[in-house]
Formats: sequence, structure tokens, C-alpha cells
Amino acid sequence: MYEQVSHSLLNDILNNLKTEISKQDLRHFYTRLGANFYAIHSLFERLYGHRDDFKAQALRLVETMARQYISRPDRLEQLDIERENDHNWFLSQKWVGMALYSQGFAGNLNGVREHLGYFQELGINIAHIMPIMRCPEGHSDGGYAVSDFRELDPRAGSLEDLAALANDMRARDILLVLDVVVNHTSNEHEWAQRARAGDPVYQDYYYTFETRDVPDMYEQSMPEIFPGTSPGNFTWDEQMGRWVMTVFNNYQWDLNYSNPAVFIEMLDIILYWANKGADILRLDAVAFLWKKMGSTCQNEREAHLTLQLMKDCCQVTAPGVLFIAEAIVAPVEMIKYFGEDAVIAKECEIAYNATFMALLWDAVATKNAKLLNQGIKNLPVKLERATWLNYVRCHDDIGLGFDDSDILSAGYEPASHRKFLIDYYTGNFADSRARGLPFGQNEKNGDARISGSLASLVGLQYALQESDPKTTEEAIETILLLHSTILSFGGIPLLYYGDELGELNNMSYQDDPNKASDSRWVHRPVIDWGKAENRNVRGTVEYKIFSTLKRMIAVRKEIEVFADFNNRELIEVTNPYLFVFERYSLIKPAERVLVVANFDSQPQQLDLSSAGNWAGNQFSELVDLYSGSSPDLFEDAEDTVVVPGHGFYWLSERV
Ligand code: GLC
Ligand code: GLC
Repeated sequence: MYEQVSHSLLNDILNNLKTEISKQDLRHFYTRLGANFYAIHSLFERLYGHRDDFKAQALRLVETMARQYISRPDRLEQLDIERENDHNWFLSQKWVGMALYSQGFAGNLNGVREHLGYFQELGINIAHIMPIMRCPEGHSDGGYAVSDFRELDPRAGSLEDLAALANDMRARDILLVLDVVVNHTSNEHEWAQRARAGDPVYQDYYYTFETRDVPDMYEQSMPEIFPGTSPGNFTWDEQMGRWVMTVFNNYQWDLNYSNPAVFIEMLDIILYWANKGADILRLDAVAFLWKKMGSTCQNEREAHLTLQLMKDCCQVTAPGVLFIAEAIVAPVEMIKYFGEDAVIAKECEIAYNATFMALLWDAVATKNAKLLNQGIKNLPVKLERATWLNYVRCHDDIGLGFDDSDILSAGYEPASHRKFLIDYYTGNFADSRARGLPFGQNEKNGDARISGSLASLVGLQYALQESDPKTTEEAIETILLLHSTILSFGGIPLLYYGDELGELNNMSYQDDPNKASDSRWVHRPVIDWGKAENRNVRGTVEYKIFSTLKRMIAVRKEIEVFADFNNRELIEVTNPYLFVFERYSLIKPAERVLVVANFDSQPQQLDLSSAGNWAGNQFSELVDLYSGSSPDLFEDAEDTVVVPGHGFYWLSERV
């Protein structure tokens, strides 16, 4: 859009660019800057327009984008252009991801590189390598407390190791996802050190206060994120002699985005990692980016404007790079991280589908799909060119983040239902075979979340300890059932390393004083590659899980209607144990797949006449794309199928 104020500012800025920048070939850069500058200017002005140094900061912003554009490697620029021409590339069903810690997966980045064949064996073509930037030895929050945004943690490897890994991944067509921890730094980061030494410029990078007055006012409306280990949202820093805002752990200092210098620094870091070859950047804790007194300091309007600005700027320098929003918040809030008042995503293209994840865990515990159906019915529709990251487990705890109104509609009382889930997963409920641990227990309000590996949460640990074959089978079926839903739902399925092998809880974290108080470490496994060989040995647990997932992934990639174009319709059926939805083609209406998942351990019937516009079909005409065979009919009734306990179908009309 052409608009005079921003245009004349842009002219001014371009005239003032340092000569070493203006001498370069910036053709593509100028085209994109011209296209995006109106948006960039209006966002930057809304956030920082009141400041005397606004113009100088705007110049710095453009210089930062230009400088990073100049250092963008040619082959990445080429990829940018390819992706611009094929801008829906990431919505394809051919993408399947896995998140992993390089240390736990294979020791370090070189180890990951040696195991790239493993990804291909399973069918993984997106690898999210969890934080690898430099962080303190002890207080690191698993790498989410960064002390240097441009160096790697030597335990993970060197920048050369990363470059070699990124190259090999590219050669194998595996996308690289890296984290940029945008919300906070470690208290050992240079900026924090300078702030501690009394430098006011760097104190303004954070929220620091001389007295408790302002922190106390903030606290009135801010919830606690880690109430057990790090209560409150502020920490007294002895050396600085001031309070500093620390929403997560007391060693993670929240960055102050109301200071444009912080925004520009972080944008520079985002572009730096884009230039190191990351295809996708996971922006951590984005719901927290903007703090406003009197609010929860989550999901603020300005947090969205900040992300939009990051996106618009990244599109100028590295348009092929996508953002993942890590915003584990209520569904109505979550959806806004794609952007608001827009048709096409304008913030982050990808967001964690935390609602779906939590609902799946509800279905496993209750053994029915009542709340799952209710929650999915109310899941807002995404924008175009936006997609979910669908996952069962990740490195974090499971929060029971569904709406109370949905719990009520499903026929439960919210408080007691949440208590049931916590008790169930921590093994405190009669007959529960789950072996999870509580996380983030809040004594003040009774809240808690859940830690535990997928296999341990679905009863595999219990079953193996008891040497109980039937329970073992049920646990394996549940693992597969959960994956069948994330692979078909629409979006990028993100597996969590170890789950494909049935990794159980790893209690060794309790011996490490830096980890002992954080139960999330229980589900951050260290892969035993000797034992992983069992995936090739018929009859083993590893084989049953791995080989089935491998097949499911391969089949998913063949099913075009599994690509994510908001082409899913929930089908409300009368049987409460079943979760049923349709995936359809927008171009070829005849192409559609009926996904059916049974959360009960007993076989359940699905009556096609209750299955929306599938009524009139006969099951004998349908084929399950996963197994290649027809589903079992109920007493030869052509319109009623039997879904085995913990079974799933991907049904399609025979052609
Ligand atoms: C392929 C590549 C991906 C590229 C896209 C562009 O899927 O793997 O890197 O950006 O095509 O069309
Ligand atoms: C994100 C990470 C989590 C971390 C937190 C603070 O939520 O996923 O592991 O503790 O941010 O950085």
C-alpha cells in the first residue's frame, strides 16, 4: 500500500543508509521492503511512535533488516524465492515432525547428524532441535534461559557442527526448526550483567524496579507460572539492588518490549538464526511478550502487534522462514497468534494446538470422547495459510487448558473433573495405570499440571512392571490411537522423541540438584540406541509401536485430503466413545476420508446413518486406508461398523 507518511520516512531512511549497505545489490530486499513498509511503519509507530527517538529507531530497524539480508546465504535466498512462489508449501500432508533434545536424542548435534537416517526410516522430515543456544551450566531451564543468543551451548556442539547438520538435513529434505527464546534471557546474559552493574541502558532492557510498589501492583493480576519452584513474578537482585520481573524461573529475566532497542535486538537474533539455515523458528512463550499493569500480562494486544512486526520484518529479509507460536493458552486466545482481522496468517503461520492435545488426554482418562468432541466443536477456525502443530506429548507439562463451559457441556463439574484428571494421571485414582507426576502445583488455588512420558501416562510402565500382556497391548494401542488422530486432524503432526519407541519415565533427573524440583525432566529421555534396535525385532514393544507409526506416517503422506486447508468437519455421532471427523477435498468434492477413533477399550459401533453426510453409505463400500481392508461390520449390517477397542479407521470410498 502506498501511503505518504510512511513513504517519505522510507525515502529518508534509504537516503541515510550507511554507504556499505547502499552499495549492495538489494533488489529483492527493496521490493519486499516497499511492499511491507506501510505495515511495518504503522506497527512500529503504534508501539513506539510516542518516543523522541522514533525516527532513529526506525532507521536502525531498516538497517538491521538490510544487513541481515546482505549476509543471507545465496542458497537460502533461492529457497525464499521458491517458497514465495509456492507459498502454501507447508500445508502439505507430506510434512511430519519430531521434537527432540540433541543431548537426549544422540548426545549432541553431531550425534543427531549421524542419526538422520533414523528420521527417514520413520518418515520424519521436520526436526525441531530444542534449544541449543548458550545457557548456564545449572540454571538453564532446559536451554530456555539463554546467556548468549549467537553462540551455541558447547554441550550441543559448535556453530560449525550446526552448519554441517543443517546442510545434511537440507540434502535429505528435512526441515530444521530452532528455538528463539524471545520473551526472556538468563540472568547471566550480557544484557543482564550490564543491568546488574548499574547500566541504565540495559536496565531498560528488562522490567526493573527500585521498590516493591510497582511489582506489588503487577502481582495483583498476574498468575504464577511456576508456583512451586519460582513463586511470584519478581526477583530481588542483590547486585543490582533492584527488583526484576521474572515470570518463569527467578533466573529468567523478562525482556521489555516497550523499549524498541529490545525489539530490534531480538529481530536481529531471529534473522541471524534464519541465516544459519533454520527453516522454521519456534518463538517461545509469545503470549507473555507484553506486560501491562492490571492485566494477566498474557495475550495483550501489543504482544500480537510485536509478533506481527517481527513477521513483517522477517518477510522482508527471509520470507521463506516460518514462525511457530508457542502460546499454550485458551482456544480463543491461541487462534489469535495467526493474526486477527485478517484472511491470511500475518503473525505466526504455525501454532501449537495445545487445546487438542489436552482434549486427547481427557479422552484417554475418561475413556470417552465427550469433552473432546465438545472442545473440537468450539475450536475456532484458523486463517488461511495457517496451520496447527498437532502433538500428543512435548517436553513440557500437560496443562488442562480447556474451557470450563466445555467441561460443563460434556456433563462434568469443572473443578472436580480437573481434579479427577490430575489424580488419574498421577496414579492416585483407583484403577489408574497412569504413572505421571504432578507439575506446577499451586497450593493457593489447587491448580496442577501433569508430567510423564506418553508411554507411562497410558499405562505401559505399569503393564511392563506387572508383566501383564493384555494391559501392555492396551497401552500400545492407546499410543497408536493418539498418533492416528494427530496424523489425520489437519496440521503438522509433531511427534516427541522416544514416544515412537515407547520410552518410559526417566527418573534420573532426581539425582541432579538442578533438575530435581522440575518434574518435566521425567519425560525428557536419553535414547538407548542399543535398545532402539528392538524396533526391528518382531514382537517387541518397540517394534509394535515403531513399525505401526512408520506405516501410519507413510499412509498419511499419500492422503491428499490430510493437507491442511481448513478442510475438516467434526461429525457428531451418538456413540460417546467415538471421535469422528471428515477430511475433504476443496477441489474434488468426491474425495473425502472419514476418521474414526474409539477411546474405549471395548469395541464400539458406529452407525453410518448418524454420520452426517456419510449417511446412505455402506461400510462394505469403504476401505480403511491404513490397513487396506474393509472395516468389520456389525452383525452383517451394512451401515454399522465395529470399531475395535482403542481402534481407529481412516475410511475412504472405494474407487
Ligand atoms: C520442498 C522443499 C522445501 C521447499 C518447498 C518449496 O517441499 O523441501 O524446502 O521450500 O519444496 O516448494
Ligand atoms: C516455554 C518452554 C518451556 C520453558 C518456558 C520458559 O514454555 O516450552 O520449556 O520452561 O517457555 O522459557
